[in-house]
Amino acid sequence: MSKIIAAILTLGISLIAVAGGNPEHVQLPQDYKSEYTNYDTRTRSNGKQVAVLYANKAAIDSASDSSLAEGSTIIMEIYKKKMDENGKAMMDANGLFEKGKFAAIAVMEKRANWDAGFDAAHRSGDWGFAIYNTDGTVKENKLDCASCHVPLSSQDHLFSHSSLLDFIKK
Ligand code: HEC
Repeated sequence: MSKIIAAILTLGISLIAVAGGNPEHVQLPQDYKSEYTNYDTRTRSNGKQVAVLYANKAAIDSASDSSLAEGSTIIMEIYKKKMDENGKAMMDANGLFEKGKFAAIAVMEKRANWDAGFDAAHRSGDWGFAIYNTDGTVKENKLDCASCHVPLSSQDHLFSHSSLLDFIKK
């Protein structure tokens, strides 16, 4: 019996280790497409993907403060670039890459009252992370999500903080 429990624990831990972020703590909001606001669409800094960024109401309402309110959630839909028959990336009228295949959905959620079992080393400030497949299942991914976002404490850990502010000012 204890062997079975040990095996289950090992499996559980290895699943957590390969998931991008902490999907056991950070869920994908099912209604984000209808309930959230699309505040920016941009080429990702890796030059290979397109990001479509959404913020929930708590994030929109609080973004102009020095930091976003607890309860804020930001979603980044990740698309591949659309290629023409010559393998060249296609551009739209605004000079943005056209969206190709929908690849993944990244979630950042800000909370003060995270479960004690959620290791703060996996968070950036009060933000937790998780990445999902486009069908809403957990995406396996070894990225240490927090690592890149941690240095951005002056903009509440968000790369797109200034675009969110610009969007709200309009
Ligand atoms: C290598 C550095 C790096 C890692 C690792 C990383 N991110 Fe990011 N993240 C970025 C950058 C840069 C942006 C801004 C969009 C862009 O240019 O790609 C971003 C943007 C985001 C956004 C939109 C909010 C914002 O900060 O603008 C979310 C949500 C997000 N990342 C979630 C995640 C999740 C979930 C993971 C782990 C699976 C992760 N990130 C890992 C660099 C990183």
